[in-house]
Amino acid sequence: MTRRRPRGNTGHRGCFDNAAVRGLRTEWIGFNLIPMNGNAYGRPPQYPNSLLTQVGPGTPCGELMRRYWQPVGLSRQLTDLPQKVRVLGEELVLFRDRSGRPGLLYPRCMHRGTSLFYGRVEGAGLRCCYHGWLFDVEGQCLDQPCEPDGGRHRDSVRQPWYPVQERYGFVFAYLGPPQKMPVLPRYDNLESLAPGETLWCSLGGFGSTGDDSLAVVPYSWLHMNDNVMDPFHVQVLHSTFSVVQFVPQFALMPKVDFFYADHGVCYSAIRKLDDGQEVDRISSWLMPNIMSVPDVTLRAGHSAGIAWVVPVDDSHYVQAMVSKIPAGVTFRGMLLNGKTWGEMTEAEHQRTPGDYEAQAGQGPISLHSEEHLVTSDRGIMMQRRLLLQQLEVVAKGGDPVGVVFDADKALVKVRSGNFYRAAQAAG
Ligand code: FES
Ligand SMILES: [Fe+2]
Repeated sequence: MTRRRPRGNTGHRGCFDNAAVRGLRTEWIGFNLIPMNGNAYGRPPQYPNSLLTQVGPGTPCGELMRRYWQPVGLSRQLTDLPQKVRVLGEELVLFRDRSGRPGLLYPRCMHRGTSLFYGRVEGAGLRCCYHGWLFDVEGQCLDQPCEPDGGRHRDSVRQPWYPVQERYGFVFAYLGPPQKMPVLPRYDNLESLAPGETLWCSLGGFGSTGDDSLAVVPYSWLHMNDNVMDPFHVQVLHSTFSVVQFVPQFALMPKVDFFYADHGVCYSAIRKLDDGQEVDRISSWLMPNIMSVPDVTLRAGHSAGIAWVVPVDDSHYVQAMVSKIPAGVTFRGMLLNGKTWGEMTEAEHQRTPGDYEAQAGQGPISLHSEEHLVTSDRGIMMQRRLLLQQLEVVAKGGDPVGVVFDADKALVKVRSGNFYRAAQAAG
């Protein structure tokens, strides 16, 4: 008795390829060898969906990600020292010259390769510590002080660089082909600040842990990306498994619908409340790694924020979060039993697991071949389908959905929010 190959795998071939199994009938190889009694002995090796998890230069998903602007730094942190940036598997150096212009350079100095991380910020750019070559924010070499006349041929060389722009408190970078550079989008829910409102920004692990204790999250960006179209874990992980982590109403099992919209996927999760009302919680995911999650205290109205899950490399990410908040408000972070995530012991993390524990538990990169996706995972399947479809569009030379080359069309409508109304009769 054998069990069938699980659904939801990505079509990659299995990993058996040695003399011991060559010559066996193909249906005996791989998943078909797993006995129905579930015994773990002899189970085949499993593997990630590398089409979605590999993000380096030249990989399908890496090239897709490079067609969109990605937040790589916080504007407020760009002061008088260069910063190391690791994004999409590339090492870079971010700085702001003393004229106020941000720049993002390949870090190995083109002269003899020391790191521009140790360079000095000047009015016109970043000066290498070793022999003083000076580069502006577009990599042009402005000075070679050890050469006659400051380098007669300095115009013939250029330090590799990427375009950057600042908005909503972040430095965004475009790491894709120059001729395909889109307009940096605007988001309608961040455009108008009410009197007294300000933008709160974070870059790191806040979205996973609820505090600032992690600068980088040590697992694949896809874990968090899947999480945003998973309204059911809110009922289990955050509400009924241990303590109520957000609000008691999340313990109600919602009626959920998933739909494609606005270059991404949305869900509507409706909960009937005791007071005769129902709340429709609409959450959005936009291609390729952008989300807008409504207020987690179920405050009525449109979502006040946007977040990007930015891959650092195949097995790390940072989350860039921005949200409108009343002026003067600061976040210490989410507290569970009076403690932030960073203050909790390992045993406390076991007793009250949250998003970080659930996602870190999937490993540095999940093994998608052994997943068993079911009806409640439909939103995740829709996201992955769109990603796979669009990385094929890019591979064929096309432009993926959501990139815009006309500034007049660069305002993105964000549907997310908690919307209350009189409860509908069951039908
Ligand atoms: S290594 Fe940078 S100037 Fe020589
Ligand atoms: Fe969550």
